Amino acid sequence: MLQPKAGYQNLKDSYLFFGISRKIEAYLNDYPGAHLYRMGIGDVSLPLCDAVIRALHQAVDDQASRDRFHGYMPECGAPFLREAIARFYQDRNIPVLADEVFVSSGASDELGDLLDLFEVSSTALIMEPAYPAYVDANIMAGRKIVYLTAGPENDFLPLPDDRLQADLIYICSPNNPTGAVCSRAHLQAWVDWANDRGAVIFFDAAYEAFVTEDLPRSIFEIPGAESCAIEICSLSKTAGFTGTRLGYTVIPRKLVRRGMNLREMWIRNRTTKTNGVSYILQRGGAAVFTPEGQEQIRRNIRIYQENARVMTEALARIGIRFWGGTNAPYIWMQCPDGIKSWPFFDLLLSRIQVIGTPGVGFGACGEGYFRLSSFGDPEDTKEAARRLVELLC
Ligand code: MLT
Repeated sequence: MLQPKAGYQNLKDSYLFFGISRKIEAYLNDYPGAHLYRMGIGDVSLPLCDAVIRALHQAVDDQASRDRFHGYMPECGAPFLREAIARFYQDRNIPVLADEVFVSSGASDELGDLLDLFEVSSTALIMEPAYPAYVDANIMAGRKIVYLTAGPENDFLPLPDDRLQADLIYICSPNNPTGAVCSRAHLQAWVDWANDRGAVIFFDAAYEAFVTEDLPRSIFEIPGAESCAIEICSLSKTAGFTGTRLGYTVIPRKLVRRGMNLREMWIRNRTTKTNGVSYILQRGGAAVFTPEGQEQIRRNIRIYQENARVMTEALARIGIRFWGGTNAPYIWMQCPDGIKSWPFFDLLLSRIQVIGTPGVGFGACGEGYFRLSSFGDPEDTKEAARRLVELLC
């Protein structure tokens, strides 16, 4: 008889953010019209910037014109966007070529799809607390996962050691959920480790735009990364594309394992499994990389950074230990008085209508922690901070 994918039986009942939305729905059923202060899922609250909106409108008009209409797009991305993204790297002295860039419909889709490149017998190394999609995508595929625990003892940034054995390594910096950011030396240790063992790093750079200090924003700033890393990035948090969907992946030409070139394999995969991202969205995405687009998205990012400052100031006032919030949009806090993550979620929802994300949703070692997102509405963030201080001081 047909055997459905057995890995699904090993998943938690529901995906973290789906579970949270169910709790919110139940609350709103009991208290219709209640105003909630949303600092849970990292969903942006500011609209797309003008440069993007204009490009999207223009692209819609192109699709209405016999001369400028576009049908199927190149599967790996439109040249105008691949070139704009490559220049975005080159301007920072990172030698990425346009044909090493793949346009995607977002980092979360891509992080799962890329697993197609590797045998299911390969082992994934996930540093927890972690974005739960890393874990779930590997469990669905039936892949073995090795967990490495991050905690205050290593500032939530574990280093490799000789006992570790894994083929695919997930690194997210700035980190979701802890807000920790890898230094160059730290990334170099992982790059050397991966090159020595023939492993591949999945570098999730979705939050790179939040780095303000002299810290790496791309794994390709690290010597040797071009022979062991794939970088996955997204315009969701950088440019407000959570509902619009656009991302990109960089697979260097030099990335070869057992004589197989992973960039060429991905071209084979994409040309078979997708018909590319829509022309309209790619035009909108290209506007992000113009000087005007960059200036406008920076303005929005500064608003989120101010949200993070407001929240961290409130936590400091309460005397709660926290990480992140600088160079990162997430704040990772210890729940007060030894409360566990989900009871703390329920407490904040029921008493002050503030929504966060329970740390245990990012792995067992996240128990007793809680994540706050700085992507919320600025006025709501101020009020949420005020309510937190009032409740916990
Ligand atoms: C999060 O809140 O962790 C992210 O928004 C999830 C995502 O990017 O899919």
